[in-house]
Amino acid sequence: MAVFHAQKTEATTNEAERLREVFRPVAAVFAKAQRKYESMLRTGVSEFLLEDFAIRNISSQSDFLDRMLETISSAQGKWLRAGITLLCTKVTGVDPITSVDVAVACEMIHTASLMHDDVLDGASLRRGQPSASSRWGNSLAVLGGDLLLALAFNLLTRSNSQACLEDISGSAVRVCLGEMAQQNASGSASVTEEEYLGIIDRKTASLFRSCARCGGLLGKAERPIVDALGDFGHSFGMAFQIVDDLLDFLSEDSFSGKTLGTDISQGKTTLATIHHLATKSPERRDNTVIAELEAEDLRKTGSLDFAFQKARYYSEASQEALGKIQTADSASLESLRSLSSFILERTPLQLLGR
Ligand code: FPP
Ligand code: MG
Repeated sequence: MAVFHAQKTEATTNEAERLREVFRPVAAVFAKAQRKYESMLRTGVSEFLLEDFAIRNISSQSDFLDRMLETISSAQGKWLRAGITLLCTKVTGVDPITSVDVAVACEMIHTASLMHDDVLDGASLRRGQPSASSRWGNSLAVLGGDLLLALAFNLLTRSNSQACLEDISGSAVRVCLGEMAQQNASGSASVTEEEYLGIIDRKTASLFRSCARCGGLLGKAERPIVDALGDFGHSFGMAFQIVDDLLDFLSEDSFSGKTLGTDISQGKTTLATIHHLATKSPERRDNTVIAELEAEDLRKTGSLDFAFQKARYYSEASQEALGKIQTADSASLESLRSLSSFILERTPLQLLGR
């Protein structure tokens, strides 16, 4: 069987350098969180497996799981969610070591959701590697995602923060509801901008919001600060998903390390397509097959630029939320600001057709 290694694309290398700089104020704890994530995936499951005498042929089951979890652990993403939790704790003046378990759990929930997402999107590449579904098939990819989700919640229950458990579990529900609403709307040319924003609010922004809020909650910050951090996370998440959807048109698989073009091929309406369809007469709109649209069509109607301006709006809103926070740790606050700019810089501006 072929052995795949995580490919370092140009984009991932540049992004990794930029993000290393952004997360510098929490670098030591960040590394600790990554080690914890890896050790939970590499060895954490065995503690449960060894107790499960109902599984026959336990050693071959265990070998397969070891390989699966090792592979998942070797392809990690940008760690934006965990990084945000750690920075938000540090902003409150508390040692971010307090937030390691919550940060790790957020990353696991995110990875689990992507394993499921790739099944839904029929995507074969993720994080520079074959996706879980293309490697092991849809059933095992879904079950692997379920396992990560269960591990994440097990970790959260041990982290002694009922408030974070409530916040994050609520977001996990919203993520599912957002994804279900998206599937339901798939192929429809009548999805409105408001409906699209509602979908990404749930499927993406809600978890970012929780990650930021939990940083504040674990830092025992006052309610207005926790709310301001949550507003930052929410607006950041909205900008992140709008840009991510733009990159689905504008980037290349080899550059981003994931399968792109799935929004269009799956008939998913995103902000640029919604704007593009709105420029047409109702009759022509009804006859437009979303799956046949190309980036050039959207560029001509200014739809890519429209979506980018909306991402800018949310990025600015996230900066405004940070403006409500007084902290002695200006470096961490500056890092959160810099994350908001980073999100816009991911879009290749020359391709928007300005
Ligand atoms: C990426 O969207 C996907 C999400 C943000 C959420 C996916 C959620 C589910 C599949 C529901 C299951 C949820 C849990 C918590 C296990 P995208 O396809 O726009 O992004 P991509 O370009 O990275 O694929
Ligand atoms: Mg996807």
